[in-house]
Amino acid sequence: MSNSAFSSPTSGYKVALNSPFTDQKPGTSGLRKSSKQFEECNYLESFIEAIFRTLPGVNGGILVVGGDGRYGNRRAIDLILRMGAAHGLSKIITTVNGILSTPAASHLIRKHNAIGGIILSASHNSGGPDGDFGVKVNGANGGPAPESLTDAIYACTQTLEEYKTIDHPPILLDSLGQYSIRSMIVEVIDGVEDYISLMQKLFDFDQIRLFISDNFPIAFDSLNAVTGPYARRLFEGLLKAPLGTVRNGIPLEDFGGCHPDPNLTYAKELADLLLKGNDYCFGAACDGDGDRNMILGRGCFVNPSDSLAVLTANANCAPAYKKGLSGVARSMPTSAAVDVVAKDLDIACFETPTGWKFFGNLLDAGQITLCGEESFGTGSNHVREKDGIWAVLFWLQILSEKKCSVTDLMSQHWRRYGRHYYSRHDYEAISSEIALELYERLELMLPTLLGKSFGGSSISCADNFSYIDPVNASVTDKQGLRILLEDGSRVILRLSGTGTKGSTLRIYLERYVSSNGNLNQNPQEALADLIKQIDSLAEITHRTGMKKPTVIT
Ligand code: G1P
Ligand code: ZN
Repeated sequence: MSNSAFSSPTSGYKVALNSPFTDQKPGTSGLRKSSKQFEECNYLESFIEAIFRTLPGVNGGILVVGGDGRYGNRRAIDLILRMGAAHGLSKIITTVNGILSTPAASHLIRKHNAIGGIILSASHNSGGPDGDFGVKVNGANGGPAPESLTDAIYACTQTLEEYKTIDHPPILLDSLGQYSIRSMIVEVIDGVEDYISLMQKLFDFDQIRLFISDNFPIAFDSLNAVTGPYARRLFEGLLKAPLGTVRNGIPLEDFGGCHPDPNLTYAKELADLLLKGNDYCFGAACDGDGDRNMILGRGCFVNPSDSLAVLTANANCAPAYKKGLSGVARSMPTSAAVDVVAKDLDIACFETPTGWKFFGNLLDAGQITLCGEESFGTGSNHVREKDGIWAVLFWLQILSEKKCSVTDLMSQHWRRYGRHYYSRHDYEAISSEIALELYERLELMLPTLLGKSFGGSSISCADNFSYIDPVNASVTDKQGLRILLEDGSRVILRLSGTGTKGSTLRIYLERYVSSNGNLNQNPQEALADLIKQIDSLAEITHRTGMKKPTVIT
C-alpha cells in the first residue's frame, strides 16, 4: 500500500491510504491478528485512526496506553503517541517499558478520568514476530468498548482515506518521566504501583502474609508475560514469599516461545508441580495481559466456573466484600455453580453473552459486585476488566481465613451446594467453512430436538442464546447454541471470536450432581454421555476429522 504525505505545520500531517483495510473487525476483545498482518504498511495506523475518529472526547481528552510487552508493543505505543498528539489529545498516560496489564489499565482509566485506553495485547495468544498482536479499546468506565463503539470503529475503517500523524522522535520509556509532543503531555508512570495500592485496599495483606509464611508454600507462573513485575512486587515483596515463588517473571517479547494461556495444557509446568508434586500447597498462573487466572491446589485443579462460585460463597472473607454482594453475573457458557450460591445468598444472578464487555453495564449500575467466565476470567467492581492477580489474592484471602487447603475448600463447597461437573472441549484451527457448516446445520436442527432423549435425560430447550441487557434493554442475539436438558445438564456450542487461525469450535458440557450424589468423579467420565451424544448429533469428529479436541479444560 503506497502513501503520500502532505504537511500541515500546526496539527501534523495527513497520510493518504490507497484503499481501506477490509478485515479490521474487532472480535470478542479487540482487533487481534498476526504480528505480520499488523506490520503491513499502514495497517495499525488505520485502525488507530479509526479509534481516534470514533472514541468520544479525543480532542482535549486523556488516554491511557500500554500493553503486555509482546513484540510490537513499543512500536505501537510510539505510533499512538504521535497520532494522539495529531488528534489533539491533551495527555497520554503510559508506563515504564510500556508494561501495563489489562486490569491495571482499567484502573488507571478510572483513576485519571480518562476518555479510555488502548491496550496492546492479543491476550493469551502467542506473541513474537510469528505470533499474534492485538489492539483493545476501552471506554471511559475502564471496560472493553461496547459493541456499538467497536462497530462504529469498524465502520470507520471501511471508508478511511487518510490518517493524521506528527513526526517526533520516540519517547524513552525506560524510566519515569514527563514529555510533550506539540501541546500533548506524555506522562510515563510506573504501571504497577497504582494497581498494588488498589489491591491493598481490597485485601488484608497481613493475614495472607502470615498464612503463607506458616508452611503454605505458593507458586505463581507469569508465563513470561505482563504479570511478572506485578507478581514479584506483590508475592515476593509485600507478601514476603521466598524469591523464586514467581516463575517466568520477566515479560519477554515472544513470551519465551510459550503460549501465555493459564490452563492445564499451556501452563503444564505449573500444573505438574501442583498436580504431581508435593512442594507447593497453592499454584496460580495468569495470561499474557494479566486478566485471566488459573487456580490450583495440591492435587487439585479449580474449574473457573467453580472458582466464581467459591469466591461468591466466601466473599465475606475479604475486607472489600464484607458488606455483601449486590449481585453476581456469569457468561452463558459458564456453569451454573454460581447460580446455586446466589440463590442461597438471595442475591441476583445474571446470565450474559460471552465477553467481559457484557458485564460493564451491570457493574456500572451497581447491580453486580462479582462476575466471571468459564474461560479463566473472574473479576469484581474494583475495575471493569477481569483480573487475574486479584483472583489469586482473593483465593489466598479465603484460604487464610478458613485455614484450609484448596482441596478441602472445594469438597466443603460441593457438599453444601452440589457439584456442577463441567468441561470445555476446543477444536482449534479448523477450516472456517467446515466450522460454519457444522454450526449452521446444528442451528437448523434445534427446533426438532425438543423432547428428544439426550445423554440420559431429555431436551427441554434448544435455542440460539439471545440477551437483553437489563440496564439499557439492548438486544444481543446469536450468542451460542444451547441444548438444555430436563435434569439441568447443558451442552453449548460456540465459534470463538478471538482465534486468528481458521475457526475454533468450543463445546461446553455441564452436568449437575446434588450434594448427596457422587461428588468425586473425574469430570470427563461424569460428562461422558453428553460428550458422546453431542459428537454424534453435531458430527464433530466426522466433519472436523479430529478424533479429539485440541484442548480439554
Ligand atoms: C474467549 C473466551 C471468552 C473471553 C474472551 C476474551 O473468547 O471464551 O470468555 O471473554 O476469550 O478473553 P472466544 O474465543 O470464545 O470468543
Ligand atoms: Zn487476557
